[in-house]
Amino acid sequence: MSGILNSSIARKVAMALSAIFLLIFLLQHFLINFTSVISENLFNELSHFMGTNILIQAVMQPVLIFAVVFHFVMGFILEAKNKSARKIKYVSYNGGANSSWMSRNMIYSGLVILAFLVLHFIDFWIPEMNYKYIQFNPEDPTRYYGELVHKFESPLRVGAYVVSFALLSLHLLHGFQSSFQSVGCNGKYTPALKAFGKYFAILIPLGFIFIALFHHFNH
Ligand code: HEM
Repeated sequence: MSGILNSSIARKVAMALSAIFLLIFLLQHFLINFTSVISENLFNELSHFMGTNILIQAVMQPVLIFAVVFHFVMGFILEAKNKSARKIKYVSYNGGANSSWMSRNMIYSGLVILAFLVLHFIDFWIPEMNYKYIQFNPEDPTRYYGELVHKFESPLRVGAYVVSFALLSLHLLHGFQSSFQSVGCNGKYTPALKAFGKYFAILIPLGFIFIALFHHFNH
């Protein structure tokens, strides 16, 4: 494993595969959370299913946590390697001339998303694990909506979420198309994929912002 990850191409492909997995997670996470603005019952039903289904809890959740950690660790490793490569070739390196600002600063938008995830895990994931697997509370299929709404009461938390989602958008604007390029998607569908990536990178974070503001101002 460490041998494979010593090759810079393998590192980029591994990074891209974890990114694509996280993009898929983000889409389903958005769709489920979006139902909270449409129907309290539907949101509760979907959350209850996700929170109690054995396949999701015992297989998908550990895979997701692994993918999140892997993506961040690989991100730091790639950044460190890129930095040392840049130092050697600093005379010929002129970042602004051949790459976007966002692509050169993925580490910073990534760090904001990491900080958001720490807050988000403290908000939702840790209480959920505590409720189910530490306190062994009886299952209540109607509790999810109330818990979510309660989280968006604080303007400070909503502000932190909105800023993080804006940075998430910038991260995805470069990350989406870059990850598909790294796994070799280069052909006649590239322009369509790039356009789809742009819409995804803007609309999904905007949708998350909408959910946070909706619950903040409606309750
Ligand atoms: C308005 C926006 C969002 C809401 C309302 C929301 C809501 C939730 C809730 C309720 C959970 C707990 C699920 C559970 O374990 O039962 C959760 C977990 C999680 N969220 Fe979010 N989320 C939002 C945005 C995001 C974003 C933008 C990301 C990624 C950048 C994200 C990443 C995660 C992750 C990785 C977990 C842990 C998943 C798990 O293992 O169950 N969330 N979120």
